[in-house]
Amino acid sequence: MRIAVLTGGGDCPGLNAAIRAVAQRGWTMDDEVCGIHYGWSGLTGEGEMHTLSPIEVRDILHESGTMLGTSRTNPGRSKEDLEEVVRNLRRHAIDGLVAIGGDDTLSVAAKLHEAGVKVVGIPKTIDNDVPGTDFCIGFDTATGVIADALDRLLSTAKSHARIMVTEVMGRDTGWLAVVGGLAGGADFIAIPEVPVHIDYIIEHAAQHIATHRFSVMAIAEGTQVEGLEVPKAEVDASDQFGHVRLADRGIAQRVADEIERRTGIDTRVTVLGHLQRGGTPSVRDRYISTLMGSAAVDFLHRDILGCMTALKGQEIVSVPLSEIAGKTWSVPPELYELGRRFFRTMAALESPQGT
Ligand code: F6P
Repeated sequence: MRIAVLTGGGDCPGLNAAIRAVAQRGWTMDDEVCGIHYGWSGLTGEGEMHTLSPIEVRDILHESGTMLGTSRTNPGRSKEDLEEVVRNLRRHAIDGLVAIGGDDTLSVAAKLHEAGVKVVGIPKTIDNDVPGTDFCIGFDTATGVIADALDRLLSTAKSHARIMVTEVMGRDTGWLAVVGGLAGGADFIAIPEVPVHIDYIIEHAAQHIATHRFSVMAIAEGTQVEGLEVPKAEVDASDQFGHVRLADRGIAQRVADEIERRTGIDTRVTVLGHLQRGGTPSVRDRYISTLMGSAAVDFLHRDILGCMTALKGQEIVSVPLSEIAGKTWSVPPELYELGRRFFRTMAALESPQGT
């Protein structure tokens, strides 16, 4: 087969490991493997791609980012753009396509499948919000960055008896905040799925300061905080999928300002931003990327098409793209409640008054 691989959407650690696995698995089957440049944009116009060589992918397993480049180009926006992608795939004699991406990229892949393209998706996003899989490439490394940052913030928070408000990514879901926050020992976690009132945050901060003299909070960038003026993110700055830049809302800064204004407690802000998308991929990200990249090629050869590779327990299985396209995997309320009860109970147990 002549297989093509692309990465779309935000980059994350583990993409290169997946590209390498697609190429190496393909070569064991005598496939030719092409790399498409900058996501779907490499299949518009004349198309931009090249045939991968072993030397190119040999040493990329541990490297972050994507050797192919990525973009938030959305050919699914119009029939003409989608047809152009199909034409380019035909013109370059591509027999099968592996699209590595989050919900946006996989939704385009689902449309291409309907248009007759042989396509298999691989889920990646540090947000970890693609349904149908236990795990998305990039999530593990990103939560490691958050936990490490919270460890570092804890020592300075304790030293200065301060509140540290930490903003983490997570556009629609709070997987990063919950998993990174629990792993890093945040005493307060706020996520997009559960709106929270500023009074509640301030009450928590004051209580934690009273019992511990410090507080370290993890707040997802997409969190809705009631009772607080937060400007809407600029729609003009939205990408082709209509996503606004949530970091522009400055939610952590606004929460911190309000805490300080109303309590007088010294409060500082750290926005982790794109640090969460870089760094050496974790073992789990490299491992799952390798399994998924290899499985994607197997699926193409076995005509298991219009699906994505999904981790279910210890196994890689196929999940139809039609089942997951346009959907989001949210943090289950029980998990968030567990986190909330956990830090509430700990605060009460550790308080000198036992309250
Ligand atoms: O989709 C992953 C993500 O990292 C989100 O958490 C975040 O809101 C967004 O990408 C940022 O995108 P960009 O790199 O385009 O600013």
